[in-house]
Amino acid sequence: MSDHYAVIGNPISQSKSPLIHAGFAQATGQDLVYGAILGPTESTEAFAQALRDFAATGGRGMNVTAPFKLQAFALATEKLERAELAGATNALKFEGDAIIADNFDGVGLVNDIQRNLGVALAGKRLLLLGAGGAARGAVLPLLAEGPAELVVANRDLAKAQALAARFAAHGRMVGCGYGEIAGERFDVVINATSASLNGELPPLAAPAVRPDGLAYEMVYGKGLTPFLRQAQAHGVRQIADGVGMLVEQAALAFEWWRGVRPQTQAMIRQLTVPLV
Ligand code: ATR
Repeated sequence: MSDHYAVIGNPISQSKSPLIHAGFAQATGQDLVYGAILGPTESTEAFAQALRDFAATGGRGMNVTAPFKLQAFALATEKLERAELAGATNALKFEGDAIIADNFDGVGLVNDIQRNLGVALAGKRLLLLGAGGAARGAVLPLLAEGPAELVVANRDLAKAQALAARFAAHGRMVGCGYGEIAGERFDVVINATSASLNGELPPLAAPAVRPDGLAYEMVYGKGLTPFLRQAQAHGVRQIADGVGMLVEQAALAFEWWRGVRPQTQAMIRQLTVPLV
């Protein structure tokens, strides 16, 4: 019988993970089935039961997407460092009674920026917009590349400062409000807010990216978001959405589960929506 994997979320029909993992399985000759599960939102117990049911019927691993990344983390019996520091998981492995949690979102982002987009992060000034779950998952892998500085800007200043304090031991990081970065220029600006999902622009009068820098939008498949449009209008040389991050995190989870690293370029091309 094939090994079973699935992504769990609510809603779930929009998820590209089944398509990506089926493509990876075919390309690497791995015998597995990857499904999609609409997770129950009525109670934590109902969600825990859905995980147990999947594991009990032979499930070997799961991707976890919104709104369950924190709940799944709390249910895990073993937490790897990246998940521990993010306080969230996007990938689980079931081994006997153990539920092991990792988090590949941030490493997927870093791999996309450095390998696919060709932008080295060491020694650079980085700006992360937002201080929610998406931003938190990105911090440790970004700091691990040795940037000159990582600034986190958020509307709610206390959240940005708390995030910076949480990772203080891992690198040079500062939390601030948007007012404090007015007029500053960074080499890479990553939009980890949920503003684009509502067609909104983070409160930046100018994109805060140097013209020869990179403006990166974590949201994918929405074309030119207000953040990317602003960067383009200011002549920023390189803009990207999160499709590469999505595929790279999937490749890392696939390798964790199967011991085989799939190629990502063709899948990224297949899923790319033009930035127009
Ligand atoms: P996620 O898990 O996707 O990060 P979240 O934890 O709800 O979601 O966090 C959403 C983030 O987007 C927060 O940093 C939020 O800023 P505040 O904490 O100040 O509310 C940010 N955000 C949402 N809409 C925004 C907007 N229009 N402009 C700037 N930041 C926005």
